Amino acid sequence: MGFWEMKAALEWQIAMGADEAILDAPVDRYSLPETPSKKADASLPPPVEDKIDAVAVSRATAESVTDLDGLRAAMDAYEHCELKRGARQLVFSDGQPNAKVMIIGEAPGRDEDMQGKPFVGRAGQLLDLMFSHIGLSRQSPAAETALYITNVLPWRPPQNRDPQPDEVAMMLPFLKRHVELIDPDILIAMGNHSCQALLGQRGITRLRGKWAEALGKPVLPMFHPAYLLRTPEAKREAWADLLSLKARLSK
Ligand code: URA
Repeated sequence: MGFWEMKAALEWQIAMGADEAILDAPVDRYSLPETPSKKADASLPPPVEDKIDAVAVSRATAESVTDLDGLRAAMDAYEHCELKRGARQLVFSDGQPNAKVMIIGEAPGRDEDMQGKPFVGRAGQLLDLMFSHIGLSRQSPAAETALYITNVLPWRPPQNRDPQPDEVAMMLPFLKRHVELIDPDILIAMGNHSCQALLGQRGITRLRGKWAEALGKPVLPMFHPAYLLRTPEAKREAWADLLSLKARLSK
């Protein structure tokens, strides 16, 4: 390269924003041997795209299970959700499988991650209290007064961050199967993330108390008890929703 060409090359680099030299001595990269990784080896077939379709795997797995134990084992063995690596254990469900009411929360928090059961922390205690006022409990063996509880995500997100759309998408087939196996009369979508997963909608203030339908079941969106702990004045609406649920159950 002659002087003028080198000058033009330097000016071009400056125009592109290169304003500092990284190495002490110049390196002529044209004279370096080509690195093997950059060379396409014509004798090999093109690399196979090895990205796994996590949703297809969960769908096929979920469809193959026939009972709750099988579903729990399949979810426990599912390796495509990163949340699993940061969580202590799978949080599958609590309550009575014969329940007519199935509550679907968002994801385990710290207490749930430690105990392996959904809604066992402060929000869970409030949830139990709320439903006890209309005669429903996760301990009740009678189907009419029983509750069954699970979450959209079975592993605790780090620092309790919001569920990510890809995490929800890959766990949704398991949730659908869970609902099919429990076959409740009514689903409760607890909070925004549950509404997003079940109804494809957010805006719990607008959605709450309005009966909707998902997975072939009536769905009642409700304020999440964690929100009620922070916003006690919203308990009035939560009480109205509980009465709506009670009325529907006694129809
Ligand atoms: N919040 C949820 O949505 N689920 C739990 O299990 C606990 C807290």
